[in-house]
Amino acid sequence: MKITYYGHASFIVEINNKKLLFDPFISINPLASHIDISSIKTDYILISHGHRDHILNTLEIAKANNATIISNPEISNWFINKGYKNTCPLNTGGKHLFDFGIVKLTNAIHSSVLPDGTNGGNPGGFYIETGDSAFYFAGDTALSMDMKLIGNNKKIIFAFLPIGDTYTMGIDDAIIASDFIKCNTIIGMHYDTFPDIIINKKEAIDKFSASGKKLILMNIGKEIIIN
Ligand code: NI
Ligand code: MN
Repeated sequence: MKITYYGHASFIVEINNKKLLFDPFISINPLASHIDISSIKTDYILISHGHRDHILNTLEIAKANNATIISNPEISNWFINKGYKNTCPLNTGGKHLFDFGIVKLTNAIHSSVLPDGTNGGNPGGFYIETGDSAFYFAGDTALSMDMKLIGNNKKIIFAFLPIGDTYTMGIDDAIIASDFIKCNTIIGMHYDTFPDIIINKKEAIDKFSASGKKLILMNIGKEIIIN
């Protein structure tokens, strides 16, 4: 799978010739100012929760691509009320078969209110299965025992976990989370964007490494391939 990073928790994962964009927050992220949003092509946009740092550029990218927005019913309805109808609502624990694979909305321990104050429903993450493998996008979340259930599915070949602390779990809890989901290849997210989530990247990588795991901290605008 090809993975492209757009900063914060924004990634595109390409599976079976389909592009899945997660949590687009790009235009006002100073670390991602070199990204031209109009150049982003995607088939789906997956939104983990309603906070602005996850939803900001969704509508403009969705419209430009006629992309299907996959999120919880409250967030889906928020876009429908803005006149954008191409949505697929999932609530926690629910799954749906798409042309690239199966998406299941997982639990996240966090909060979720939309930028205009509308109730954003429950925050979530995404477990995505394609063929014999899977990957996991945790969203903004604390460490939780529920992650053990996610690890009981198909082999998770990589996972996006927040590591910035303050608003989500930090590095030490993310290492425990990676044990729970039985995945040793972690792509870090939700760090460095704001002053209160700046991390020591070398220390983070070393801590994962000491636990026998690989922490990948991607360069913004760059891509990697994990199969
Ligand atoms: Ni959040
Ligand atoms: Mn956030």
